[in-house]
Amino acid sequence: MVTGATGKTGRHVVEHLRRLGADVRAVSRGSAPVRFDWFDESTWPAAVSGARAAYLVDAQNEHAAERMRAFVTFAAERGLTRLVLLSARGWADSGDPGLLATEEALRESCDAWTILRPTWFMQGFTEDDLLRAPVRAGSVRLPAGAGGEPFVDARDIAEVAAAVLTRDGHTGVIHSLSGPRALSIEEAVGTIARVTGRTIGYRSVSPDEYVADLMARDVPEDEARFLARLFTWIREGEDAHLSSGVQDVLGRAPRDFADFAEEAAATGVWAA
Ligand SMILES: NC(=O)c1ccc[n+]([C@@H]2O[C@H](COP(=O)([O-])OP(=O)(O)OC[C@H]3O[C@@H](n4cnc5c(N)ncnc54)[C@H](OP(=O)(O)O)[C@@H]3O)[C@@H](O)[C@H]2O)c1
Repeated sequence: MVTGATGKTGRHVVEHLRRLGADVRAVSRGSAPVRFDWFDESTWPAAVSGARAAYLVDAQNEHAAERMRAFVTFAAERGLTRLVLLSARGWADSGDPGLLATEEALRESCDAWTILRPTWFMQGFTEDDLLRAPVRAGSVRLPAGAGGEPFVDARDIAEVAAAVLTRDGHTGVIHSLSGPRALSIEEAVGTIARVTGRTIGYRSVSPDEYVADLMARDVPEDEARFLARLFTWIREGEDAHLSSGVQDVLGRAPRDFADFAEEAAATGVWAA
């Protein structure tokens, strides 16, 4: 069972598992004939029926931990023996226990857990308007300073997930996953400018300026402040370290941002 199957990692987890010959049920709120909604427990029995393992992309709101606890308890009772959660490396590095509540809910509710803690996805630049829209507009303003982020390719995360869902030896293990090198936002944007032949500016702004920018675009203040906090971690250098999870699990190096950017540019995703 793969949740978040329409998302940045989930859809690639489905592809990798099918390539490995697994019988996969890909679910999200709109999947057919079986759908899955963290907030509609009537969808759960059919979603887990016959499944032995699950890839879990949480509900991504203030109810995520409570929903995780309820679902994992349910799934463990139905015989699922591998539960793999997509978390985030930043949650652990932040020292904020509130950000680890979903991981805790998983660990306390079953024995058969594995946790993936990735850095920021490269695909944020192609699939999330937070980064894609300013790149398309040719002007990126973020409170990230010159700090480095070792962006990871969502396809690498997915391949790791498919491996741990189908192989023994990962129960009770946390895999931290990063790309092969840390890039500042300016370097990432510069790479995209080079491969697209466009001029794309980057200006580092203060967290307050960024919050004001987002609120002017109708982003609620608490969400805007949370996003500013994430970029501040980059600015302060807290995200820059590398993690070896892709190499450890797959036995190969993670994909590089420049290769990702070349491929993405060819799809026209950053055309003005
Ligand atoms: N993006 C990053 O750079 C990054 C970095 C590190 C960690 N993460 C973590 O990765 C996770 C996924 O984030 P993302 O931005 O990449 O999102 P995503 O996986 O691209 O999209 C979210 C997925 O969840 C599904 N979904 C949303 N609400 C649901 C609900 N109530 N019930 C069932 N399914 C639901 C969506 O499907 P439908 O809308 O079709 O239902 C979609 O498939 C988050 O936990 C995030 O913290 C992200």
